[in-house]
Amino acid sequence: MSLDEQNYLGREQTLVKHIILQRYLLRLAVIVGTWADSITYIDCFSGPWESKTPDYADTSFGIAVQELKKVQVELAKQGKRPRIRCFFLEKDKKSFAELKTFCDSLSGIEAEAKNNVLEKAVPEILEFHKKGGQKNFTFTFFDPKGWKGIELDVIQPLLKLSPGEVLINYMTSFTRRFIESQDPELIPGFDRLYGNSVFRTKLAGVSEDDRDDAMVEEYIRRIKAEGNYSFASYTPVFQPQINDIHFHLIYATRNEKGLEVFKKEERKAVEVMESARAKAQQRERESGGTLELFSSNEMHDTQFYNSLRTKYWNKTKAKVHALLASKKPVSYDFLWEAALTTPLVWVEDLNQSLMELSKKGKLKFVGLSEREKFPKHGKGVMVQIV
Ligand SMILES: C[S@@+](CC[C@H](N)C(=O)[O-])C[C@H]1O[C@@H](n2cnc3c(N)ncnc32)[C@H](O)[C@@H]1O
Repeated sequence: MSLDEQNYLGREQTLVKHIILQRYLLRLAVIVGTWADSITYIDCFSGPWESKTPDYADTSFGIAVQELKKVQVELAKQGKRPRIRCFFLEKDKKSFAELKTFCDSLSGIEAEAKNNVLEKAVPEILEFHKKGGQKNFTFTFFDPKGWKGIELDVIQPLLKLSPGEVLINYMTSFTRRFIESQDPELIPGFDRLYGNSVFRTKLAGVSEDDRDDAMVEEYIRRIKAEGNYSFASYTPVFQPQINDIHFHLIYATRNEKGLEVFKKEERKAVEVMESARAKAQQRERESGGTLELFSSNEMHDTQFYNSLRTKYWNKTKAKVHALLASKKPVSYDFLWEAALTTPLVWVEDLNQSLMELSKKGKLKFVGLSEREKFPKHGKGVMVQIV
């Protein structure tokens, strides 16, 4: 079931975050549930936060529970009944009281709510995780309000949970304002966010246009290293009213299937984002009383989105060309990874571009049968410039 956009008026960025969570968690848990004895979902910053619904259908915890229940039904049809376990953490007393009442009302799902700050709750979370047993897959969501609370030394033990994946909300709009501040009160906080001060050297000299990417990519490098993740991607989520990035959703996994599925869902969520922004901006323009003749989508200026798509596609092309430059056969899997770990670039973009080059005789595939329209990851296909 799609989320009700009416619950997200004025906070369309949260709609995008929730759509990604909703769609991906469902797909992930259905796949994982075929072999896992337990699926453990951990929300370290649960809320409720700015919820407008009595049943919490517009909160991350409400959405997770709703999707995990669907997963149970789906898996039961296949004779699979993994334990579904949720750990919800919330520091605010009032919000926690609501969260606890919600959890206590659930059946068929193990749901534990705790009133604590993440800094102090990690041992409790690890204990909860341990009770999931041997074949226990964990998905951990970090959704702080700013850059505080997810210091690398705090979240490191959670990043290491394996098998497992993480989704992290990196609050770009706040971070970029303060990350290079010389205020002695702020410096240690950012050093702890990144685990050390190396990011400062990496950011020095980076142009304004590339700063967001540099900040997020260095953070991802640290997350991948700490959690031994094979792949990570990041999705820019825009401000509803203005052409700017509000936050980046960082996803890290040790499994290529995870990345493949995540990127499919990211694509759909980004489409909803542009449509929701178009409506939000039209509402604002019409607030003076003059209604517009054309629909919000027709009126929407897509230049910001398109320019980012172009920028990231150019980055992908550069990576692909660098990989193929030696003119030796290169595994398609490397090109796939280069494309799918770049924001707003999808497998269809890569395949279409490679097929066009192939038709022009500029490259060839080895191991791609005549019947196959496009190469696929993990099938041993090689690509070579001719
Ligand atoms: C952005 S809101 C989360 C929204 C929720 N994930 C959602 O999408 O519906 C952040 C929540 O984390 C709580 N919080 C802030 N700092 C925290 C910390 N250090 N540990 C645990 N919870 C914290 C806040 O009270 C707030 O409810």
